[in-house]
Amino acid sequence: MSAVMMPGQPVADAVFADLVPRIEALRSQGRPPGLATVLDGDDEPSARYVAMKMRKAEELGCNSPHVHLPADATTADVIEAVQRLNADDGVDAMLVQHPAPPQVDFDAVLMAVDPDKDVDGMHPTNVGRLALGIPGPVSCTPAGIEAILAHYAVPVAGRDVVIVGRGVTIGRPLSILLSQKRPTANAAVTVVHTGVPDWPEYTRRADILVAAAGVPGMIRPEHVRPGGVVVGAGVRYEGRTLLPDVDEACEEVAGWITPRVGGVGPTTLAMLFRNLVEAAERRAGPA
Ligand SMILES: NC(=O)c1ccc[n+]([C@@H]2O[C@H](COP(=O)([O-])OP(=O)(O)OC[C@H]3O[C@@H](n4cnc5c(N)ncnc54)[C@H](OP(=O)(O)O)[C@@H]3O)[C@@H](O)[C@H]2O)c1
Repeated sequence: MSAVMMPGQPVADAVFADLVPRIEALRSQGRPPGLATVLDGDDEPSARYVAMKMRKAEELGCNSPHVHLPADATTADVIEAVQRLNADDGVDAMLVQHPAPPQVDFDAVLMAVDPDKDVDGMHPTNVGRLALGIPGPVSCTPAGIEAILAHYAVPVAGRDVVIVGRGVTIGRPLSILLSQKRPTANAAVTVVHTGVPDWPEYTRRADILVAAAGVPGMIRPEHVRPGGVVVGAGVRYEGRTLLPDVDEACEEVAGWITPRVGGVGPTTLAMLFRNLVEAAERRAGPA
């Protein structure tokens, strides 16, 4: 029996449908949300990501100032650009695309971003806010995964969630998010990684398995509880070819599963714009 598919696009569409009138309200106050992007160097996939986000910003009626620094820019150059955007009243949130060129200390750059303008929710202040349950920008892919589960009415509260991977983009923030005391979370969360060689013992009994390792095909049917929920977030690119963590054959074992293409990705983008609009609303104050 094939699993029920949980594509991300309908989830993203619902998020954007909620954002459109909020963006309109901000525009009518003369404060269109401003998403700044910073790209250093000429990495082609990075340039593509940034261009895609700028196009989406434009389509939604947001401003999208862009800073393109040369490939030999120093950490100080990138920090200076970030500080200018921090001080720019028209910028509500910013995205500093990574990976950065090797001479740039990305952690130092991240620390320079005003946490209230951190659209990725990756600044230590925002990771701290997440851990403490204080509102603020939440890391986009984890927020998108929670939204997918909620959209498809997958019960999470009280269930056994196993996340493969403790990376700072997905596994670690997701483990905090899904263990919070909220109706769409409140789960028993286990995180496995290379330090847990018998990780299949954990995944096989998971109600919800989230793959966030970046190891193509590592989640195979024998790692999935029959009828369980599988969310594939980890991917690796070889050129333009996307190689997901979750093997296609898992679709025959799982009850619910994200598609290998068009799963978590669209919701990551939607959550980035949700962070932008929330930042703009906070800065605009009450209408
Ligand atoms: N779909 C999206 O929209 C989206 C967005 C962002 C990122 N991603 C993808 O998500 C993945 C995770 O990114 P990340 O930054 O959170 O993590 P990361 O820094 O790439 O770390 C990967 C994690 O997976 C674990 N791992 C790797 N191989 C393993 C194995 N054989 N057995 C058990 N655990 C293993 C690692 O364990 P150790 O800690 O022990 O090394 C580590 O915790 C990447 O593939 C990235 O491309 C997808």
